[in-house]
Amino acid sequence: MTDAPASQFTPRVFSGIQPSGGLTLGNYLGALKRFSEMQDEGRECIYCMVDLHAITVWQDPDKLRHNTRELAAGFIASGVDPEKSILFNQSAVPEHAQLAWIFNTVARMGWMQRMTQWKDKAGKNAEKASLGLFAYPALMAADILVYHATHVPVGEDQKQHIELTRDVAAKFNHDYGVDFFPMTEPVIEGAATRVMSLRDGSKKMSKSDPSDASRINLTDDADTIAKKIRKAKTDPDALPSEAKGLEDRPEARNLVNIYAAFTNQSVDQVLAEVGGKQFGEFKPMLADLAVAKLSPISTEMARLLNDTTEIDRVLARGAAQAREITVPILKKTYEIVGLVGA
Ligand code: AMP
Ligand code: TRP
Repeated sequence: MTDAPASQFTPRVFSGIQPSGGLTLGNYLGALKRFSEMQDEGRECIYCMVDLHAITVWQDPDKLRHNTRELAAGFIASGVDPEKSILFNQSAVPEHAQLAWIFNTVARMGWMQRMTQWKDKAGKNAEKASLGLFAYPALMAADILVYHATHVPVGEDQKQHIELTRDVAAKFNHDYGVDFFPMTEPVIEGAATRVMSLRDGSKKMSKSDPSDASRINLTDDADTIAKKIRKAKTDPDALPSEAKGLEDRPEARNLVNIYAAFTNQSVDQVLAEVGGKQFGEFKPMLADLAVAKLSPISTEMARLLNDTTEIDRVLARGAAQAREITVPILKKTYEIVGLVGA
């Protein structure tokens, strides 16, 4: 039995973001910007607010409702067009959770135990972590495979979960003797697959970092963005003229990566332009660029959130479109497994 290569399946892009509050520049450059670019390349794209994943750690219900709509606004303001892509929230499409249950029976405990996100999030207190947090990657595999999605744009940190998705697909296909689920490819591209903290170049920029100065939030105003970049940790040296010169300079490399991602250039192209400059000169250039790119997004997010009926309408329509794909795939899965009455 050979594993089904992604190429046997119609190319289809799927990705998700948790509505667990606050979008950062890392989410924008590592995910949202890439999502709208893939859509604009004319691919079939499906994007999801993974609220069922968010509740694997405690979420205040009112905040979760707000964060889901804010995230939807973030998608749309970043260029995801609901006329071109399917945009919805996970809990509105019950087939995700239904397929996840089947995958809970396919995935092995040992696979889950090896997940670095599980180890990081559960920490030393794994006994107290929710069962859902442990099973999180099986739900993620279901998110992707319930569409037979072939390509998943994500940041570097999600690579291991996509590998597990392939393991689930391969084991299901093998155990049931079918070529039903594709071997999904992660799409980890661009200069900013891992945007680092502005205060510590060894840590990922994250919405959960206690220091607000460590990140740029998509809701920050122009002054705040400029101030955070001016205060970003750097070193005293001038910028090099080639990428190799950034090797042992994580903070400098991070700022150059951010510049490269915003301007869709390679790091070498950026350094050809700014090599030799001091940070006193480069930081204002980066701040102007960040403000120019992010301000329209935060303005549009605020406008969309002013009246959430539009967002709710978009999400309801997206869920109906999504179910046109998921219902037949789940039905076929039930048949393969021998569940009567799908
Ligand atoms: P999360 O907010 O952790 O649910 O992440 C949503 C998406 O943003 C995923 O594709 C992540 O890989 C991506 N992402 C989150 N933080 C960063 C970061 N600092 N750099 C690049 N991508 C990121
Ligand atoms: N685990 C992803 C994250 O934390 C979110 C996610 C859930 C996802 N389901 C997905 C990403 C399916 C891509 C595809 O960022």
